[in-house]
Amino acid sequence: MSAKLLDGKKTSAKYMESFKSLIENLRAKYKKVPSLTVILVGENPASLIYVKNKQKRCAEIGIKSDVIRLSKDVSQKELLKIISKLNKDKKVNGILVQLPLPSHIDESSVINAISPEKDVDGFNVVNKGKLAVGDFTGLIPCTPFGILKMLKLYKIKTEGKNVVILGRSNIVGKPMAELMLQNNATVTVCHSRTKNLKAITKNADIIISAMGVKAGMIKASYVKEGCVVVDVAMIRNFETNKLAGDVDFKSVSKVASYITPVPGGVGPMTIAMLINNTIKAFLTQNNIENEDTQVQI
Ligand code: GUN
Repeated sequence: MSAKLLDGKKTSAKYMESFKSLIENLRAKYKKVPSLTVILVGENPASLIYVKNKQKRCAEIGIKSDVIRLSKDVSQKELLKIISKLNKDKKVNGILVQLPLPSHIDESSVINAISPEKDVDGFNVVNKGKLAVGDFTGLIPCTPFGILKMLKLYKIKTEGKNVVILGRSNIVGKPMAELMLQNNATVTVCHSRTKNLKAITKNADIIISAMGVKAGMIKASYVKEGCVVVDVAMIRNFETNKLAGDVDFKSVSKVASYITPVPGGVGPMTIAMLINNTIKAFLTQNNIENEDTQVQI
């Protein structure tokens, strides 16, 4: 079998087009547009690239975006003070604190200080709790949300399927498991202490891999013929400066039915869902019913 590509660049471009016209409508009708503030602490090279990318995408479709750059030595107290100010600022609809944070800062205190209505990452306990009980009024974490949307756009069914998720992070693995359960999949979450990983992945109809430990570690021998393979990892090889995922694309694409490339698979869909969440936050905060502002994809 030769796998078809799950092309996140293409699917996210569809979203971007409809977001753009929606924002033009909002500007014309309400004389304002959604706004996102990103807080970047320190100089993590990957974070610098991710934040620049988010800003670029926001600018392309007319979302106002600001970045607050803070020194790696900023105190937790100072960071919480900045978040509290942003929470009260009516002109700011979405707040995102780029992770990881320096080790002297407690990540969960910072994430939970963001007002749930402005938590466009969907990492706050309120939004995570809503997702866990199937209440979709909250904001959904962008990467799992983007993966689900991409599978739907390619008409890949999840109902009754064996979905194996590799990685149990709060950002990807756990919310992905919740979304898949709500979409009637049978879900297995594997992690660093899982025994006999290959025996589990071999039984999967869909593999979603978010480990980021060793590039290309999921080989064709881990994958059943016809499996759908989604690779969330982005591992940079500092010698070649190339990005790679968890999955050995060359061998796995010979047995899978669908596969995401790295880069150009999940990444663009994550940004599209961040923009989706920023628009949703704007609409909720301004009590705007969806009417002609609904994105239908
Ligand atoms: N670092 C890596 N991925 C993410 C993400 O989705 N959100 C934030 N805030 N930081 C990240």
